[in-house]
Amino acid sequence: MTRRVDRQAQEAIILSEPRPSTPGKLTVPFHRPSIGEEEISEVVDTLRSGWLTTGPKVARFERDFAASVGARHAIALNSATAALHLALEAVGVKPGDDVIIPTYTFTASGEVVTYLGARPVLADCRADTLNIDRHTVEPCLTTRTKAILPVHVAGQVCDMGPLLELARAHGLAVVEDAAHAFPASYKGQSVGTIGDATAFSFYATKTITTGEGGMVTTEREEYAARMKIMSLHGLSGDAWNRYSARGHWYYEVIDFGFKYNMTDVAAALGLRQLERAAAFHRRRQQIARRYSDAFAELDTCSIPHDAGLGAHAWHLYILQVNPTVLRVGRDEIVERLRENGIGTSVHFIPLHLQPVYRRTYGYAAGQFPNAEAAFARAISLPIFPSMTDGEVDYVIDAVRAILREARR
Ligand SMILES: Cc1ncc(COP(=O)(O)O)c(C=O)c1O
Repeated sequence: MTRRVDRQAQEAIILSEPRPSTPGKLTVPFHRPSIGEEEISEVVDTLRSGWLTTGPKVARFERDFAASVGARHAIALNSATAALHLALEAVGVKPGDDVIIPTYTFTASGEVVTYLGARPVLADCRADTLNIDRHTVEPCLTTRTKAILPVHVAGQVCDMGPLLELARAHGLAVVEDAAHAFPASYKGQSVGTIGDATAFSFYATKTITTGEGGMVTTEREEYAARMKIMSLHGLSGDAWNRYSARGHWYYEVIDFGFKYNMTDVAAALGLRQLERAAAFHRRRQQIARRYSDAFAELDTCSIPHDAGLGAHAWHLYILQVNPTVLRVGRDEIVERLRENGIGTSVHFIPLHLQPVYRRTYGYAAGQFPNAEAAFARAISLPIFPSMTDGEVDYVIDAVRAILREARR
């Protein structure tokens, strides 16, 4: 059975947990975090250091993350949601503005627009990549459009060139939701250096994790300065440092800000995860390749479309079942996988189908056919670095058997 889930699986929305394993059967969860002794020692070191909140480890994590994506500025925060909010605020989104976002995303991409009194205007996704592009965004432009917020769904980058051109032609800011897209690239350029600002997530299931956490990157000094100040109550300068020996008690409150800073405890985790990010990425790529090789020739499903625009982070592997040749729907396939001990998830329930977006903006079913078709067919399979070859084989065999059995 699919069911609504708690905060621990917030990004999944619908999460199917595997049944407890039966003898002789594997259980493969949707996600298993890769936390090793390195992370544990680094966190213990922080706990022993006497400096728990934003401090030297956050500063190091920001430096290392900026270097790893090649960004000029990186600011560590307590979530990607915070990163998106600060980025939109920094580029000047104000009450009455419109921000174009995909309907095929998590609500965080839209709620941040409303924090600023602006309106999220939904765009359909492409049928193949599930990402927005210039053609799906263009009809959504209004005289009030201030920014475009592309989401790199599953970790595959949107076609940013034409989107940036469109933004430039209309004087719009581009804030990227790269919650799924670390590390990823577009035509050789790292995600994190492309738009005006880019938000990354270090939520528990993401490609690297700090438990809860996020990072915002930008090339622009003035955006970085604004986001830094607004991330900590709108306090001036190095206020986070005010309790250290080098700090000073005096600060000024420049604006009404937010409480979005990352702790050193979280940054300790992040520092060690970042060192392992390339290895994690290689394993995700291997698993995705094995899934795609195993499912490519089946007519009962479609594998993720690779647009060939750059390196895919493979945060998610979204398989789409084919209703025209199956006797049962996606929900039934999810249930059968669960009976076989395999945890899956569904990304995404399009925002225009969610009560608050319908109630507030009048969106209705039928408005975004690509997103609705993708939602009806999507199953996110387990993909995480500590998955063993045996677990990958087990998932492949189960998916193939269940789809074969469900054929008309
Ligand atoms: C596309 C997308 N954007 C933003 C977020 C929010 O990330 P966080 O939980 O770090 O705020 C998520 C969370 O899963 C997401 O999937």
